[in-house]
Amino acid sequence: MRKQILPSMMCLDITETLDAIHEMEKENIEYLHIDIMDGVFVPNIMMGTRYIEQLRKITSIPLDIHLMIENPEQKIDWFEFEKEERVILHVESTVHINRAIGLIKKKGAIPVVALNPETPLAVLDYLLNDIEGVLLMTVNPGNAGQTMVPGMLNKIGELRDYLDNKGYSNISIEVDGNVSFENAGIMSKKGAELFVAGSSSIFSKDIIISEGIKKLRSIVIV
Ligand code: DX5
Ligand code: ZN
Repeated sequence: MRKQILPSMMCLDITETLDAIHEMEKENIEYLHIDIMDGVFVPNIMMGTRYIEQLRKITSIPLDIHLMIENPEQKIDWFEFEKEERVILHVESTVHINRAIGLIKKKGAIPVVALNPETPLAVLDYLLNDIEGVLLMTVNPGNAGQTMVPGMLNKIGELRDYLDNKGYSNISIEVDGNVSFENAGIMSKKGAELFVAGSSSIFSKDIIISEGIKKLRSIVIV
């Protein structure tokens, strides 16, 4: 799979959003990463259905919608998803993850499941036929600007081996949290294919977005 950079829109200053999106379009960004936080599953409240509606008016870049909300199966109907979009559900956020995945598929979106740093890979055992991707949180979900949790680089490699050994090499691995210019290369070597780019890379103060995207792309091509 071609390595992809997914800008994390929560890291972007609202006044810079329009210009930044034009830059991202010029750089052929495939997905924008949208963090939806409910203040219950994670200690933060962020973005929402209205933000998504407004974003759709200014760009046709598909979305990678990361639902950090309790019981997402009860709220999926509040969202409009486009066909090729990825919708990410946390296995820790519901006891009905299989039902939630089914609802995402019914709406025509691509189902992806997310694991918190401490969640074991075995939770995926009975989900592999139903998902197209796994998002590994490499920081605790909820805030930008954190340092990677120790052990996460190895976990990426373990997940790649786990998927390949079970015959699911087609399932993609996305990494989210502290995907810095320093960490991204090794994340890529370990098997990550989609990189959520936030304040540690393309939205850091000392770099312009288009340069940051180019730099990150060159780092993750291994
Ligand atoms: C949470 C977010 C953050 C963040 C990533 O799901 O996606 O992890 O935007 O950006 P960093 O960690 O680079 O600030
Ligand atoms: Zn995220």
